[in-house]
Amino acid sequence: MNEKQRKEQSQINQVDPADVKSEQENLQRLKSKTSDDFLKYFEATYEPPNMKKAKKRLRKEVEYHDDFEIEEQFQGLGNGKKFLIRTYGCQMNEHDTEVMSGILTEMGYEATTDQNEADIILLNTCAIRENAENKVFGEIGHLKALKRENPDLIIGVCGCMSQEESVVNRILKKHQYVDLIFGTHNIHRLPQLVYNALMSKEMVVEVWSKEGDIIENLPKRREGRIKAWVNIMYGCDKFCTYCIVPYTRGKERSRRPEDIIQEIRHLAAQGYKEVTLLGQNVNAYGKDLDMDYGLGDLMDEIRKIDIPRVKFTTSHPRDFDDRLIEVLAKGGNLMPYIHLPVQSGSSEVLRVMARRYTRESYLELVRKIKEQIPNAALTTDIIVGFPNETEEQFEETVSLYHEVGFEGAYTFIFSPRDGTPAARIEDNVSEDVKKQRLHRLNEVVNEYSRKAMEKYKGKIVKVLVEGTSKSNDDKLAGYTERGKLVNFEGPKSAIGEIVNVKITETKTWTLDGEMVEETVAEPVEVI
Ligand code: 5AD
Ligand code: SF4
Repeated sequence: MNEKQRKEQSQINQVDPADVKSEQENLQRLKSKTSDDFLKYFEATYEPPNMKKAKKRLRKEVEYHDDFEIEEQFQGLGNGKKFLIRTYGCQMNEHDTEVMSGILTEMGYEATTDQNEADIILLNTCAIRENAENKVFGEIGHLKALKRENPDLIIGVCGCMSQEESVVNRILKKHQYVDLIFGTHNIHRLPQLVYNALMSKEMVVEVWSKEGDIIENLPKRREGRIKAWVNIMYGCDKFCTYCIVPYTRGKERSRRPEDIIQEIRHLAAQGYKEVTLLGQNVNAYGKDLDMDYGLGDLMDEIRKIDIPRVKFTTSHPRDFDDRLIEVLAKGGNLMPYIHLPVQSGSSEVLRVMARRYTRESYLELVRKIKEQIPNAALTTDIIVGFPNETEEQFEETVSLYHEVGFEGAYTFIFSPRDGTPAARIEDNVSEDVKKQRLHRLNEVVNEYSRKAMEKYKGKIVKVLVEGTSKSNDDKLAGYTERGKLVNFEGPKSAIGEIVNVKITETKTWTLDGEMVEETVAEPVEVI
């Protein structure tokens, strides 16, 4: 294939932003291709995750924009029509959904939760583990009947899975009724993409391999008026050997501090009570900014904003520096809740995972955190059954759990992800053993969670009331400063407020209580 052909093909599927020509031209091209052509083009041009190449990604490619606008031709395209977005996976996806909802709303679409009245359904997908992907494929299958009943329905697949070659291939081959596939770097192109999907008889596929730029002024339609997500950075450069994220989300790109602060001030002014700073690896914040400015510095400024609660997720232990601990120790609106994924308690496994820390250095970090922030609640993520994990190595994870005394954990069985180094390792651990290890670990996790909860008995805590309880409409539910879910009796007028609740009963994962007038002694919620 010569250079010209390669370029033409890449414009159709893995479109490089620099190559995007006039939209009309693009549309013509899309119209003139059959699904088979797409498949051929796709197979010839798509590059699967490639560690060497991905690691070469250059900083200077990131550009900041604040010139997003919905072109005139797309305005009103959704008038009288409805959209539904199903979100899978992490908070980053939830927030992307808020952005896509914002864009669709500005195009005139109205949100619906009823798939039967939707004119456009988007699946915002997660690729982190195989079962997440299976769920989405199940849903794509279900949508076929809906499409048959309503041929005008636009079905779109976006999010992390659409950045994977195998997924796009499978959809192109087996689910040709899907109208649109677009990647995590193409969200701002939604108006054009929806238009293309409406006009074209063929599946519209736009997945940029190039990392996305940062676009500051995308509209957002936030879920709720109490808590808000705020992206502080995008992507991840850590390349843990099991993880697909550095390939699906691209390289680390930090937003500028002033943009983040302005967004949080605005949220505070609108009455939001809590913000969670989001990033795949928030502790790497600022590394790409050439400013000698990190997450600690950012939090030190956010601390002064008049918003009651500030949290962040997710941390990487390697980049969790002393400055951040020092700032978090100042307390105030910085919540004493730290999610610090450890993944394994064995230094040997951590080395093969390329986590860049050891059991010892992790424990040292935990020691420092506990010393300076004594009331911090620590939670973690753990993968069991990493290829060739021995019984002893697994036991080291369990013993680390005891040593730290985490208050909660998300635990997973290793899931091989196409294109990642760990997926190529020959594994001698059976699925049965992996399941047993997960079960054993979960017993420990439950025990520590229950113990952590027991310490609350009789205490008065501050609860940000989020709404009614899931299990009982007559009760309210909300979270404490250390991230514990409390169900309690109280007036509906308390929703959106921070109230004092006396804990009357403790369970493994939740607390029960009653609203009280008494104020809480400072510092609140010392456990
Ligand atoms: N298999 C199992 N768990 C994984 N995670 C990330 N990649 C994989 C994988 N391939 C887990 C890690 C991470 C969390 C978000 O998902 O524990 O912290
Ligand atoms: Fe994946 Fe987190 Fe590792 Fe990044 S730091 S590669 S997102 S596990």
